[in-house]
Amino acid sequence: MLFDTHVHLNAEQFNDDLQEVIDRAQAEGVSRMVVVGFDRPTIKRAIELCETYDFLYASVGWHPVDAIDMTPEDLDWLRELSAHPKVVALGEMGLDYYWDKSPKDVQKEVLRKQIQLAKEVKLPIIIHNRDATADIVEILKEEGAAEVGGIMHCYSGSVEIAKECVEMNFYISLGGPVTFKNAKKPKEVAEAIPLDRLLIETDCPYLAPHPNRGKRNEPAYVKLVAEQIAALKGITYEEVAEATTLNAKKLFDIN
Ligand code: NI
Repeated sequence: MLFDTHVHLNAEQFNDDLQEVIDRAQAEGVSRMVVVGFDRPTIKRAIELCETYDFLYASVGWHPVDAIDMTPEDLDWLRELSAHPKVVALGEMGLDYYWDKSPKDVQKEVLRKQIQLAKEVKLPIIIHNRDATADIVEILKEEGAAEVGGIMHCYSGSVEIAKECVEMNFYISLGGPVTFKNAKKPKEVAEAIPLDRLLIETDCPYLAPHPNRGKRNEPAYVKLVAEQIAALKGITYEEVAEATTLNAKKLFDIN
């Protein structure tokens, strides 16, 4: 059994063949997935999907790239959705300094508001970080995010920062990049972080693992991520699958 903790089956890239994509995932042993919404259309679709399929869950939040578009009504909507029985986390939220659509101070404010909401509704958070590690760590500390914990999604930073995040009650989630030949850091993280703090994800349709790099990603490929972690840790694929599934169920309070 595999638990893909970050999928965008709500993305338009899956409009034409969603059922086949889901069938292939299940054939590879992917028994649960969290569909992550990050703006109005993708949040709506994430909710629809988790209401349609019992093995799909939803996470709802506001992406930092679009932080400038979030209204007070949107935040109220997230609060409302947090009570939905299949909504297991808030996010993805975070900071993204690669794109400049939303100014840094707006991104920070929107992140802080969502962390405060997560503490209010007692849900873990899913963190997106691009080129903003120091500011993310500072805000997680200042806002006391350890109270709810969550996931450092598609983690690509150093072992040192990963350990700091684990101390703040976060799980480190590895995706396709851990399988890339030239990706040194995710491989070091897979080796150094204990199995009881690791999660796996695809972030599909993005970041397909080797040997599918560059193609549309899909949840079936999360198996490649688990196999890579097993090889790096010198343990079996089954151990990785079992531990990461258990970690995800615990974090999302499933079963
Ligand atoms: Ni994502």
